[in-house]
Amino acid sequence: MRAVVLVGGFGTRLRPLTNHIPKPMLPIGHRPMIERLVNRLGRGGVTEVVLALGFKPEPFIAAFPNGRCGDVKLTYAVEPAPLDTGGAIKFAASEAGIDGTFVVANGDVLTDLDVAELVATHHRHKAEATLHLTGVDDPSAFGVVALGDGDRITDFVEKPAPGDEPSNLINAGTYVFEPSVLDRIPDNERVSIERSTFPLLAEAGRLYGHATKDYWIDAGRPDLYRAANLDLLDEERINVHCEAVSRTANVDAAAMILNSIIGDGAVVAPGARIVDSVLLPGAQVGSAATVEASLVMGRVGEGARIDASMVGVDGIVPDGAVVTASTVPEVSAS
Ligand code: GTP
Repeated sequence: MRAVVLVGGFGTRLRPLTNHIPKPMLPIGHRPMIERLVNRLGRGGVTEVVLALGFKPEPFIAAFPNGRCGDVKLTYAVEPAPLDTGGAIKFAASEAGIDGTFVVANGDVLTDLDVAELVATHHRHKAEATLHLTGVDDPSAFGVVALGDGDRITDFVEKPAPGDEPSNLINAGTYVFEPSVLDRIPDNERVSIERSTFPLLAEAGRLYGHATKDYWIDAGRPDLYRAANLDLLDEERINVHCEAVSRTANVDAAAMILNSIIGDGAVVAPGARIVDSVLLPGAQVGSAATVEASLVMGRVGEGARIDASMVGVDGIVPDGAVVTASTVPEVSAS
């Protein structure tokens, strides 16, 4: 089975971390997010993944130079201009000549979903499209479904106003499509699969849901990207764990690391405290600095304190500075 994986977004919510690295190439527990996703698809029976690329395609091609990720073959479809989710799926599937049932996944979803079960549900219902669904407490920030008899989705509403949600079941970002879904998407146009195509499929009675209670996180938000990393330190995930400190990191014996991940080549000086945080590859934390609930790629100076913040690869927190709920460098609204 083939799959299209959407990895061409701008990752604006994770700026400045995504200023130079596309979101799906950011690490989750020392390995690129995309590698974990492709491996999961492979375990579910996917043999070839078409990466739907747009913004910054080069890091993906460089990371998988022989066109393979584990046992899965990788091919690339680079959009000439961003086509949004639906346009990107159409473009990538057409470029790859997909003409059978296929899987689609958002590149920033971490889940323990069994993809083979999703495909089986799709075939059982003879659906045109089947969405993985998960229940959340506040569904208003997501695509929310109304589920009728026999798992048929009767309504799909993208980001409804709080209080207007038809249920607490949301689109969890992994789908199975028949190729006929592509006929519903115009060529080379910006189309949102969530806003345009799913409501049409629901209206036609051809959209089904596969609700599970599997671990699931949309790692596109800073707090959730951090959680997706830290969840690998405890028993949250089935058979997915990681070491807290990379073997290539240099952590002084007089530093304190609590519920945190220290990435490849990161340096932590004596007396520093790292709590509930992720130091990305190459991060540097000076002596007696404190890093709490933060994501750091750049440098935190001696005695500085940062809390609930993101430091990009070019970011430098000066010695002794206090940074709370901010980004370094500042991120412009554009
Ligand atoms: P934000 O800018 O923070 O919203 O992130 P995003 O646009 O990168 O991600 P979002 O969660 O909005 O999109 C879901 C998935 O679709 C992500 O894996 C994106 O990489 C991908 N995506 C979004 N827009 C495009 C696009 O125009 N082309 C391609 N190829 N992928 C896209």
